[in-house]
Amino acid sequence: MQTLIKNGTIITEKATIRADLLIGGEKIIQISDTIQTDSSARIFDATGLLVLPGGVDVHVHLDLPMFGTVSSDDHYTGTKAAAFGGTTTVIDFVSQNSDNLLKNVKQLREKAERNAAIDFGLHANITHLSTVVEKAIPSLVKEGITSVKVFTAYNNRLRLLDGEIFKVMRIARDNGILTMLHAENGDVIELLVNEAIAEGHITPEWHSRTRPVWGSVEAVVRGSALSAIANAPLYIVHMNAAGEVDQLEYARKQGLNVMGETCPQYLFFTEEDLKKPDGSKWICSPPVRKEEDQKRLWEGLLTGVIQTIATDHCPFFYDGTKPIVYEDKPIAIPGKELGRNDFTKIPNGLPGVGDRMPVMWTEMVSSGRFSASQFVSLTCANPARIFGMYPQKGTIQIGSDADLVIWDSNLIVNYGVAHSQQRTDYNLYEGWKLRGFPVQVFSRGDLIVDRGNWLGKPGRGKYIHREPFVNQ
Ligand code: URP
Ligand code: ZN
Ligand code: ZN
Repeated sequence: MQTLIKNGTIITEKATIRADLLIGGEKIIQISDTIQTDSSARIFDATGLLVLPGGVDVHVHLDLPMFGTVSSDDHYTGTKAAAFGGTTTVIDFVSQNSDNLLKNVKQLREKAERNAAIDFGLHANITHLSTVVEKAIPSLVKEGITSVKVFTAYNNRLRLLDGEIFKVMRIARDNGILTMLHAENGDVIELLVNEAIAEGHITPEWHSRTRPVWGSVEAVVRGSALSAIANAPLYIVHMNAAGEVDQLEYARKQGLNVMGETCPQYLFFTEEDLKKPDGSKWICSPPVRKEEDQKRLWEGLLTGVIQTIATDHCPFFYDGTKPIVYEDKPIAIPGKELGRNDFTKIPNGLPGVGDRMPVMWTEMVSSGRFSASQFVSLTCANPARIFGMYPQKGTIQIGSDADLVIWDSNLIVNYGVAHSQQRTDYNLYEGWKLRGFPVQVFSRGDLIVDRGNWLGKPGRGKYIHREPFVNQ
C-alpha cells in the first residue's frame, strides 16, 4: 500500500523543501513537487505543516534494574512514549551481566523485540574486562552492535580502570566500534559520598555535591587523551559542564575524533532544583550543574562542538508507593522514595524520551535560536550517522525508512505529566508551554500516532543491525 503526504514542508539536516512525499511499504519512494497516485493510496494533507524525520534518541535505559527497583518504562511503554514525542528510533544498553557478551545481547534483544513499538538498536556496556571479554568484543559487530560504553565512575559496580579503557578503545578501533564514555571521577565520588554519609548528610543536593564538576572535566580530558594515544574515536555521553565543552573543543581542535552528546536536563535545570522539597526528581548521574554550564552547553550546540542531543531516559516514579493509571490499569513501581533517608539510595535517572523533540523544538526553533535543519541535525541525522544507521534513519531521502513526523510548528501544548506518555508520576516540564508538537507519527510507513491516538503495538519495532563506525 502507498501513502502520500501532500503539500508539506520537508525538513532535513540540509534543507527545507516544499514537496509531496510518497511512501511505498516501509520506505520513502518519491519526493517531488507534485505526486499523483491511484485511488488506493492513503493521503495525508500536510498543508501548513512540516514533515520531519523521526527523532533518533541514542541514549535510553528501558527496564533497567537499579538499587533494588527497575526503571519504570519498559521496552513497550518507553518506545510508545518516544513515538508520542516524535522519536521513532532509540538505542538501549546491554548490561554486562556476565562475561558472555553475546548471551547478554541475546537476552535483551529478545525481550526488546517482543515489546518495542518502534525500531531500536543496542549498545554494549563493558563493565568488567577479562581476556574472555576482550576476545568477545569484536563479535558484537556481526550482531549489529557497533558501540560500547565504558565508565570512569560507579566504583565497584561499572567502572573500568584507565588501562582497561585504553585496551577497550584499541579493540574497538580495530573492529569499527565506537567507544562511549561516562566521564566522572569514581575515586573522588566514592570518598566524598562516604564522608557525606558519615557526617549525616542525606538530602538530594548531596548527590551533586559529591559528584564535583572538575571530576567530569578531568575525565573528559582523560578520555580524550586515551583516545589520542589509542588513535580511537570517542563519544562522550551526557555532557553536563562548561569545562567539558571547553575540553571537547580543545580535543577536536587537536584533530581528535572525539564527539559529544548532551541531554535536555543539562540545558534547563540546575543543582538548585535538587534543593527543592521534591529534589529527588532531578537526581541523575552526572548531576545537573549551574547556569554557566547551561550557557556553555548551548554554545557548544550552536558552534558544532557538541554533535547530538539524546535523553539518557531512565525514569523512576517520584513516589512509587502510589499507583498511577497506565493503559487503564493501576501500576506502581518503587522509585525515588527509596532514598528518602539517604541520597545514595535514590535511583539515578530521569524521564525524557517523549519530551525531547517538542521541548527542544520549542527552545531551539520556536525561540529563533536555531534553524529547523540544525534541530534535525542534532536530534535525528547526527545521531543516526555517528551510530551507523544513516541514511536508513535520521533523514528524509528516497530509500530511507519512512519514519516521519508530521509536525505542527504552531501548535501550543500546555505540557506536563498528564500530557506526556512516559510511565511515571511526574514530568520535569510540568506547566511548560510548548510551541511545536507532532500531529502524526509514522514508523516504517505505519501510522502509529494519529492526533494523540495510539495505533502502535508491542513487538512491531524492529531491531536495527547497525553498521560499523565510520570516521566523522
Ligand atoms: O542517572 C543516570 N544517568 N542513569 C543512567 C545510567 C547512566 O550512567 O547513564
Ligand atoms: Zn552514563
Ligand atoms: Zn545513561
